[in-house]
Amino acid sequence: MNISNRSWAEPYKIKMVEPLKMTTRAERQAAIAEAGYNTFLLKSEDVYIDLLTDSGCGAMSDRQWAGMMAGDEAYAGSANYYHMRDTVEEYYSYKHTVPTHQGRGAENILSQILISQGDYVPGNMYFTTTRLHQELAGATFVDIIIDEAHDPASMHPFKGNVDLAKLDALVADVGVEKIPYVCVATCVNMAGGQPISMANLRALRSWCDKHKVRLVHDMTRVAENAYFIQSREEGYGDKSIREIVYELCSLTDAATMSSKKDALVNIGGFLAMNDAELYEKACNLVVVYEGLHTYGGMAGRDMEALAVGITESVKDDHIRARVGQVEYLGEKLKAMGVPIVNPIGGHAIFLDARAILPNIPQDHFPAQALSAALYVDAGVRSMERGVISAGRNKDTGENFMPKLELVRLTLPRRVYTQAHMDVVAESVCQVMIRADEISGLKFAYEPEYLRFFRARFAPIER
Ligand code: F0G
Repeated sequence: MNISNRSWAEPYKIKMVEPLKMTTRAERQAAIAEAGYNTFLLKSEDVYIDLLTDSGCGAMSDRQWAGMMAGDEAYAGSANYYHMRDTVEEYYSYKHTVPTHQGRGAENILSQILISQGDYVPGNMYFTTTRLHQELAGATFVDIIIDEAHDPASMHPFKGNVDLAKLDALVADVGVEKIPYVCVATCVNMAGGQPISMANLRALRSWCDKHKVRLVHDMTRVAENAYFIQSREEGYGDKSIREIVYELCSLTDAATMSSKKDALVNIGGFLAMNDAELYEKACNLVVVYEGLHTYGGMAGRDMEALAVGITESVKDDHIRARVGQVEYLGEKLKAMGVPIVNPIGGHAIFLDARAILPNIPQDHFPAQALSAALYVDAGVRSMERGVISAGRNKDTGENFMPKLELVRLTLPRRVYTQAHMDVVAESVCQVMIRADEISGLKFAYEPEYLRFFRARFAPIER
């Protein structure tokens, strides 16, 4: 036998397991109705395979758990803070670090410091919490991602890239003094986990230097972005993930981080920067909203686990298996004829709900309905990333109608096996075969902020 295409496997083995409850279809039907057809309102114990998010639900390593025992729970000046701060500088280049309880804590502080009423913040596609903090601070978000990012079929290898012509147009329109910073995300979540290229980031750096505008990095999934640069961008094939991550960060001035994703911890985040004046302002505000500037809402043990998690997150073996599992699920779905966002992204598979449910108009929330139907089929929990997540325009009150109407199957890091992925793929396929049985939804309750988290729905009678 000639084995030319050898399999890979995860660079770890399982040391502890968490048993899962199996449910019947009738039980799941009752649970989703009780949850108002919103998967965020399901009880976790009623979920079999939880692909709601990759945030805070990864498995920590034995080294990270050992770090938890080394927590220095002092109110001020914890040893774990200094370890975390030094690790951020060593791996991510930023000189100053302010811990926060999670990513949105850092977004709040940054937005309050840098934004004035009437400003505009350009970014490579919105993220829900990031845009809301910009708006609450008085700014309007402006999307400057390349057009290809809004087309699920486009095979562009770097759909997270910024269109510099859109930035020029914004300057011509509102003036550079109204732009406090450009926000650039690595591996853009809402675009489908799509990377930005190093060349594009470098061009953006030059643009920011030329216009004297700060460049802020949403580095939540920076290591996954580095993997795509390593595998797709010329000149990076021989560089390590660690080197690429460092180079990405060093092209930017400051960063917000939700360490619950790439950095392999269950809670935590930070705001990091090179500018001492900005650091001073952040320290001033963190004590108001999060905690002292040497813990910012994190326990000492959590800062220790984060310091260790950062070092594990940039290992080539780790990231290859992490994105490899996403690719495995994506390829399997594609082979079954399921329409997904292309190319396959870093943290999730995004199902194209418009293509799967062509008879449900966008204002009957096809992605929300598909996500509820998926749960009922086999207990797989996913998340809507379409019109519900996009929310309403803060000035007109109208729903944003995004081109991408998606359901996200998000893979927690180091948690599920290939067999789980097979079950998920078969379930998606089964739901797609019976798509004409799925009804659209209408709001039963719509919260004011970040409505997707707590909204309730009712099926539209047919
Ligand atoms: N930025 C990005 C790109 C994110 O994906 C998230 C969170 C945040 C910022 C906010 O961080 O949750 O720690 O406050 N994304 C999660 C998700 C919630 O499921 O995509 P946080």
